[in-house]
Amino acid sequence: MTAIPGAFRAYVAEKVGDGVERGVREFAEADLPPGEVEIRVGWSSVNYKDGLATRADGKVARISPLIPGIDLAGVVVSSSTVDIAVGDQVLAHGYDLGVSRHGGYSEYQRVPADWIVPLAPGLSPRDAMAIGTAGFTAAMSVAALEERGLQPDAGPVLVTGASGGVGGTALAILADRGYEVWAVTGKPDEAERLRALGAAGILTRDEVTTEGRPLDTERWAGAVDAVGAATLPYVLRTLRPGAAVASSGNAGGAKLDTTVLPFILRGVALLGMDSANMPIEERRALWARIATDLRPKGLGSGDGVTEIGLGSLDGAFDAILAGHARGRWVVRVQGEV
Ligand SMILES: NC(=O)c1ccc[n+]([C@@H]2O[C@H](COP(=O)([O-])OP(=O)(O)OC[C@H]3O[C@@H](n4cnc5c(N)ncnc54)[C@H](OP(=O)(O)O)[C@@H]3O)[C@@H](O)[C@H]2O)c1
Repeated sequence: MTAIPGAFRAYVAEKVGDGVERGVREFAEADLPPGEVEIRVGWSSVNYKDGLATRADGKVARISPLIPGIDLAGVVVSSSTVDIAVGDQVLAHGYDLGVSRHGGYSEYQRVPADWIVPLAPGLSPRDAMAIGTAGFTAAMSVAALEERGLQPDAGPVLVTGASGGVGGTALAILADRGYEVWAVTGKPDEAERLRALGAAGILTRDEVTTEGRPLDTERWAGAVDAVGAATLPYVLRTLRPGAAVASSGNAGGAKLDTTVLPFILRGVALLGMDSANMPIEERRALWARIATDLRPKGLGSGDGVTEIGLGSLDGAFDAILAGHARGRWVVRVQGEV
């Protein structure tokens, strides 16, 4: 017995010929996949990967039609598992959501029980989606660097792509934890906002993408990078001996052209971040920390969080894929489109 209405609204991307038709339309409950937990989705968010999921050349969508949205948060309306009850506030992200299984841009969704994260007290569904996969990856990056020994007194930490979702949230978390954080941005007019988030200093994108020597001045005690391309080689050659960079993204490109010298002469480490496939127990534990000691400040409107409805997703996708992100987009799934 389902608690989901026979039809509801969703934003759908569907391959037609060589292109993708996308927009808000009616979607039938019978076309949702099976799953133990039914959710009335309140909020979702916009990630770089969501933009790719709506593009014919994006190499993300694995089914068509697809309801994209790698994140969702809302209230349980039906559950066939004992530890999740009707009325619980929950979130889900990653795994196959919005890729090979319908995702968050839908008024209702059905999700496997072992993908569900109960929301910690004090973290609303909207807050959770203002953080979303990007913020989760930022928290994962900070946790990984600290597990490897990074501490605030170790020296300055670099965050690249700082105006974006992963970068901006990493900056906020690190600054709150007492680190001296330097931000790299390609948007000079974002400097003031980044300083307000806690940046002690700003580097321009040009400073970190020009070719350099295989080993450069030892500068950073750690780094969070979601840009890749020419930026990651800069980070590797300027890390201090024994330092690490948490690498999660390729907003600037996927190719990595570097030498092994930072690894073999300075013992630096390249830590890979894969938020989509993190096992559920680890994921729930990290979200519990995001609600407390890894909680980024600035989750309201005007804090680099832009609220949109399902009907404004197209513009947000175009902007995020063009590198124009300024903070996070949180998507109001119910109510006005
Ligand atoms: N591994 C994982 O689990 C995981 C999870 C989440 C995201 N990601 C990946 O991480 C990346 C960032 O995601 P996001 O949601 O933070 O995206 P985003 O909000 O678009 O942020 C990316 C930022 O990178 C910078 N940037 C964009 N194009 C660039 C270019 N050509 N060269 C240099 N910098 C550029 C921009 O910041 P500035 O203008 O300030 O430089 C942009 O705001 C994406 O590749 C995404 O797929 C991976």
